[in-house]
Amino acid sequence: MPTVSAGSSQGGAVHNGRMKPPKRLKGLVDEGLIDTVVRQLTSGKEAMVYVVRCGAETRCAKVYKEATQRSFRQAVDYSENRKVKNTRQARAMAKRTRFGRQAQEAAWQSAEVDALYRLAAAGVRVPRPHNFHDGVLLMELVADAGGNAAPRLNDVSFTAEQAREHHATLLVEVIRMLCAGVVHGDLSEFNILLGADGPVIIDLPQAVDAAGNNHAARMLLRDVENLRGFFARFAPELLHTEYGREIWDLYERGLLRPDAVLTGRFEREAGPVDVDGVMFEIDDARAEEVARRLRLQPAQ
Ligand SMILES: Nc1ncnc2c1ncn2[C@@H]1O[C@H](COP(=O)(O)OP(=O)(O)OP(=O)(O)O)[C@@H](O)[C@H]1O
Ligand SMILES: [Mg+2]
Repeated sequence: MPTVSAGSSQGGAVHNGRMKPPKRLKGLVDEGLIDTVVRQLTSGKEAMVYVVRCGAETRCAKVYKEATQRSFRQAVDYSENRKVKNTRQARAMAKRTRFGRQAQEAAWQSAEVDALYRLAAAGVRVPRPHNFHDGVLLMELVADAGGNAAPRLNDVSFTAEQAREHHATLLVEVIRMLCAGVVHGDLSEFNILLGADGPVIIDLPQAVDAAGNNHAARMLLRDVENLRGFFARFAPELLHTEYGREIWDLYERGLLRPDAVLTGRFEREAGPVDVDGVMFEIDDARAEEVARRLRLQPAQ
């Protein structure tokens, strides 16, 4: 298994396993939540991630970027039905005032923390959250067997048997999430780490409420299709499976349980027209169009 090298070209010089704390982490150092900042791990679309020391433990600090620097992942489907504390907040968010943007920002960041706690409680293998302070999420550093930051699935190759095994493990995780009322919404080989004890699901700010979001079905199907597409590179027979539709169908009928035995087959209901399928495609096209228009709007 490849390992991630200890040094980093990002984030400035690293001396004796520590670097000068970046501005956004200073508050946490002053509060005593972080002792030292070891190095910058990555700078992604939505956040910068650092390896930090807290007492005897090595942890991970995810620093969210300001909304204007981020992609528009949360713009359309994801923010639907996101719970806000009061109606003033909701109105401001709808009007996109400054207060509204701040409220949206807070909702986006705390969504990841909420999802981590909820999923950890449901037995899903996600990083253990430790703290959320000043827009920084402190959590368990997912590590490989050597104690280094774990690689993403995308950086690893598998035998067909390993691929089938991880695929099956991750489907159970998807089911556990759904049983806890959560759809990841951006699940792929880029948001799953291969830790020493198996796959760990990360990156949840866009997670949606399965029951209250009209796009939940589409997102669940996309998440499961992403898993299938990735693992089918190593085990091509997976391409013939239909786990996503089978899982959603059981969920909708109130029959989904974490120990559900799945077949990977899904029979479409007999009938002259597949109304669900057509509605699904329309819904999909409409959401894409709204997302496209939002992307075209100048940042405010
Ligand atoms: N708990 C963790 N343990 C180890 N590494 C982590 C952890 N959380 C994040 N990382 C690393 O940081 C990267 C970015 O994290 P994450 O996906 O949560 O943020 P992001 O801003 O959405 O990034 P991206 O745009 O790359 O998806 C991950 O691909 C992973 O390599
Ligand atoms: Mg990510």
